[in-house]
Amino acid sequence: MEENKKYYITTPIYYPSGDFHVGTCYCTLMADTLARYKRLRGYDVFFMTGTDEHGQKIEEKAKAQGITPKEYVDEFVARAKDLWKVLKISYNKYIRTTDEEHVLAVQKIFEKLYNKGDIYKGEYKGLYCTPCESFWTETQLVDGKCPDCGREVKEVKEESYFFRLSKYQDRLLKYYEEHPEFLEPEKRKNEMIKNFFDKGLEDLCVTRTTIDWGIRVPFDPKHTVYVWLDALTNYINGLGYTTDNDEMFKKYWPADIHLVGKEIFRFHAIIWPAILMSLDLPLPGKIFGHGWLLVNNKKISKSFGNYKDPRVYINATSVDALRYYLIKEITFGEDGNFSEELFVERVNSDLSNDLGNLVSRVTAMAEKYNDGIIVKKDNLPLQDIDEELISVAKQTVTNIEKYMDELKTNEAIAEIWKLISKANKYIDLSTPWILAKEGNTDRLNQVLYNLVECIRIIAIPLQICFVDTPNKIFNQIGVSGEDITWDSAKEFGVLKNGTKVSKGEILFPRVELTEDLFKVEDEEENKESEDRKGIITIDELDKVELKVGQIKEVEKVAKSKKLYKLQVDVGEKELRTIVSGIVPYYKEEELLNKQIVVVTNLKPAKLCGIESNGMLLAAGDDDVVKLLILDNNNGTLENGTNIH
Ligand code: MSP
Repeated sequence: MEENKKYYITTPIYYPSGDFHVGTCYCTLMADTLARYKRLRGYDVFFMTGTDEHGQKIEEKAKAQGITPKEYVDEFVARAKDLWKVLKISYNKYIRTTDEEHVLAVQKIFEKLYNKGDIYKGEYKGLYCTPCESFWTETQLVDGKCPDCGREVKEVKEESYFFRLSKYQDRLLKYYEEHPEFLEPEKRKNEMIKNFFDKGLEDLCVTRTTIDWGIRVPFDPKHTVYVWLDALTNYINGLGYTTDNDEMFKKYWPADIHLVGKEIFRFHAIIWPAILMSLDLPLPGKIFGHGWLLVNNKKISKSFGNYKDPRVYINATSVDALRYYLIKEITFGEDGNFSEELFVERVNSDLSNDLGNLVSRVTAMAEKYNDGIIVKKDNLPLQDIDEELISVAKQTVTNIEKYMDELKTNEAIAEIWKLISKANKYIDLSTPWILAKEGNTDRLNQVLYNLVECIRIIAIPLQICFVDTPNKIFNQIGVSGEDITWDSAKEFGVLKNGTKVSKGEILFPRVELTEDLFKVEDEEENKESEDRKGIITIDELDKVELKVGQIKEVEKVAKSKKLYKLQVDVGEKELRTIVSGIVPYYKEEELLNKQIVVVTNLKPAKLCGIESNGMLLAAGDDDVVKLLILDNNNGTLENGTNIH
């Protein structure tokens, strides 16, 4: 390994929300691909991934399942790590924002920024999108909704600390200009500058007082740190920044590349460098915003029915097949499509036919004609077809380097397939079976040598995208050690005289796209895991009977400060008695004759000795409770009307 050749690469740290699908794997898989490539090139690679575990969303999800946020995130992390194992993601560190080291580092960073005067106290008034954990200004909204996800935003007003992002506007722009390679692809950079800098950067609200599940501001603990400030700093905290044990930080920072999805590009391109500038730290080499993976050209979501665990595809084919498709079929940086039909087509044509057949034909011929022994004779003249093949082979890895260094991963992989295709044609043109029949042993040996040497040169860069197949190929063609180093793939003629080849298992069996091929196998288990997440089906929801009711009588329950005994008309012959704890929130006259929403098929319960036959729907917490009262604009509904 050359001195000073380090490569620090990161993925975003994932929100523990929902399930994994091929889209969520994409970023991590691409980072793994780049990490593997750099390792093959002799770099000292540090590859970090992890989870972003704080924030209101997590708090709410855990609550919905009746567990603590920590229990919720622990369960998710276990599932994430399982999946990364299946995909053979070669990360060096998995950081969790609940790790103590990270928590302490965030607090120290917050203090540093505050002491520098870049964080100040103020009042936040604005619009917040809970699912995206993002603050917006009125002008940034699209049709009054969150510009990222299109959902409702809510107005919040609270005491907050702010980061002086506006102060860094000019420095950031200057940096982008002086370092054109810093933000890629170019179009994302331009789009971001247009959307955010043209209007001028605003200071960023970096604390909340209404969110519990977060890292406390050390000198003002009623505030928790805004999740993005918490999350972004993982990239340095994971290396031990601010700790006594910061050798890793000294060795690997600045990162060479942060890979991120396009929707979070701006956080990495604006907020993160500004924080680093404020901390007087060097900026990462590159922030690369990749596109989204669509499934059958649609956004991946449960409601589209295109939301499958990637293991479904791996089980039907192999981990290498899935990796190949995602790396080869999608132009890195653009949106891409995952289609089950195309996936099967690629497995059968590129993997089974082109690569699989090349290896199996060549090893079978070597076994059949020469007991698997490869003979190298340097003194035989080359024919035109040999020279053509050799020149493509010698160029392959150099071309791959060029494409990989430009992050054109799909083009890099395509170079391997150019050589595969050339080698397959070479078999047809050199006709080893005729040479064998004619007893032309010298030429036969020469042809077989050229073919096995090509397979060696193919299998070396295949390690960029495949995790199992290259070793199988190396075993079949009997090479190891210095014969499979990266640089050895730039030379033709490395394969030793007398190498023993043996035909092995089929590398990529063909697959047939039947209805069952990608069926989600264990429905029962899926249901169980959905249950655990608090998800219900439409049928289950249908079990809840909701009706329009009208409050006809109101009476305080003598023994209670909270309870009213109500008589409610839900369209039945008799009024229903419902006991409800809304005395602190409504006066009797405010309730009388109001139409409200009643759960009518709830099991009766006794409250203060009175049997309650139903429940009124209300929203709120201990401080504020609001009944769902039907307005009487455009007429009224009949009591007992079903609510769907
Ligand atoms: N927690 C933040 C990142 C903080 S980094 C300091 C986050 N997490 S996420 O779980 O929502 O997303 C993680 C990554 O998965 C993002 O880069 C996102 O773009 C990516 N993807 C999620 N769905 C995807 C597709 N369908 N296709 C490609 N990438 C996708 O954002």
